[in-house]
Amino acid sequence: ALISRHKFVLTDTPYTRLCSNKSILVVNGQFPGPTINATEGDTIVVDVYNQARENVTIHWHGVKQPRYPWSDGPEYITQCPIQPGSNFSQKIILSDEIGTLWWHAHSDWSRATVHGAIIIYPKKKNNYPFPKPDAEVPIILGEWWKSDVQTVLTDFLNDGGGPNDSDAFLINGQPGDRYPCSRSDTFKLTVEYGKTYLIRMINAVMNNIMFFSIANHSVTVVGSDASYIKPIESDYITISPGQTIDFLLKANQKPSHYYMAAHVYASLPGFDNTTTTAIIEYEGNYTSPSSPLLPSLPMFNDTNASVSFTGRFRSLGNKDYPVDVPKNVTNMNLFTFSVNTVPCFNNSCDGPLGQRLLASVNNITFVQPSIAILQAYYQRIRNVYGDDFPSNPPFTYNYTADIVPQALWTPRNGTEARVLEYNSTVEIVFQGTNAVGGIDHPIHLHGQSFYVVGWGFGNFDRDRDPLNYNLVDPPLMNTIAVPINGWTTVRFKASNPGVWLLHCHLERHVSWGMEMVFITKDGKGKEARMLPPPPDMPPC
Ligand code: C2O
Ligand code: CU
Repeated sequence: ALISRHKFVLTDTPYTRLCSNKSILVVNGQFPGPTINATEGDTIVVDVYNQARENVTIHWHGVKQPRYPWSDGPEYITQCPIQPGSNFSQKIILSDEIGTLWWHAHSDWSRATVHGAIIIYPKKKNNYPFPKPDAEVPIILGEWWKSDVQTVLTDFLNDGGGPNDSDAFLINGQPGDRYPCSRSDTFKLTVEYGKTYLIRMINAVMNNIMFFSIANHSVTVVGSDASYIKPIESDYITISPGQTIDFLLKANQKPSHYYMAAHVYASLPGFDNTTTTAIIEYEGNYTSPSSPLLPSLPMFNDTNASVSFTGRFRSLGNKDYPVDVPKNVTNMNLFTFSVNTVPCFNNSCDGPLGQRLLASVNNITFVQPSIAILQAYYQRIRNVYGDDFPSNPPFTYNYTADIVPQALWTPRNGTEARVLEYNSTVEIVFQGTNAVGGIDHPIHLHGQSFYVVGWGFGNFDRDRDPLNYNLVDPPLMNTIAVPINGWTTVRFKASNPGVWLLHCHLERHVSWGMEMVFITKDGKGKEARMLPPPPDMPPC
């Protein structure tokens, strides 16, 4: 429960990538931003100073923040933005998280450049449930546009189609050898033959699930989303935006140079199909190859490679790391996630910003309120949000049919929360739909992790599918990719009072309204109630 203090200063700072220069929003001048090192159970204070030109908020992705949603960060959900020239002291309250998490901006698309790692070490030094690694290395996957990211967002919303493809993917802030003007800055990991490295991987990409692989080396996955899993051998990784994966890399190949590489997993055509690379460089005397070996990554549209990787995750589930999945559920929900098209007449469409495409959960397109929902909830301010978010879609039909019913084309706008009783046991079936064409949705929940107890393709079957749930050792995650035209079931106990966002972690879907809010009510007794707000909450 150590309290350490950090200072985050946000500035607009010039950066050059791909032979072109622009000013980007960064923390402490760094891109990617500074790493926060912590120990299990710590509380960390981060004093955030906004010295940039735009509004910003910071979110600690995967940190549960027990009873303290005030520091969680999503704009207009738990706080109003930190305005230029002002500051906000945020608390990161760790409980049982262990491994890797990350922090990122949670306002507009600023997280493209405002993000960094949070590394949480075991209380007893080196007390890992796997052989002690010789070194630890964070690897952050990112994305780069030559133009200004807020301009990309504005164009995307006005245009109503997909966003402009980014100009590069990044490994630790660098595009790598295969992009123009990037070779001399490619990220290099120097390894020593015989040693083992713990790689802490974060997918900070804006709009894509990614495949990653290392030439000639397989890896052992040992954790995800700050929770351990039973070790898995694999020669590639699938990682959703928002997700973290910890894996062991053994330097056991002939000393040389090898590429590690990442590219998109995409079920739909029309995306940036370039490959970002970095280099693994063995120490020692040898003639380095003029062009190192590239790994073979799964094909862009290999859905099976994507889902089967994550489908192998199992919690450790032993006495040191027990599984606490709710066996009986008091609160059942089925949420549909759709991208929708709305009618257009004379070039003007019915979307909230006049656009043709939008997105919804249970056929409600989320509309951001003008003050934070948390503040409205705490101070009982009316008419900011409704508490009517449905536990089921408004109608049943074949969600994943080639042509879905017209009712799904026209969701309604709303700012609706779903209210949960304290300590209720919650099940949510995330159901993808084929409204405009299916796609995988990486769904992320704030304020608690959930157990992923089952998944499948097609429509969820209420009678048959629950028979196959894993209630023994399901993985504990905070972000899970719902397979294209399929479903995923999660369970958790609503033991954290507060206001918590649930959303797709594809930024373009968030901007189209694919989000909703949970309010977990206070329980009885002091320990079951939300803590009061700090005095310096940014004003609305
Ligand atoms: Cu990674 Cu709502 O965030
Ligand atoms: Cu989505």
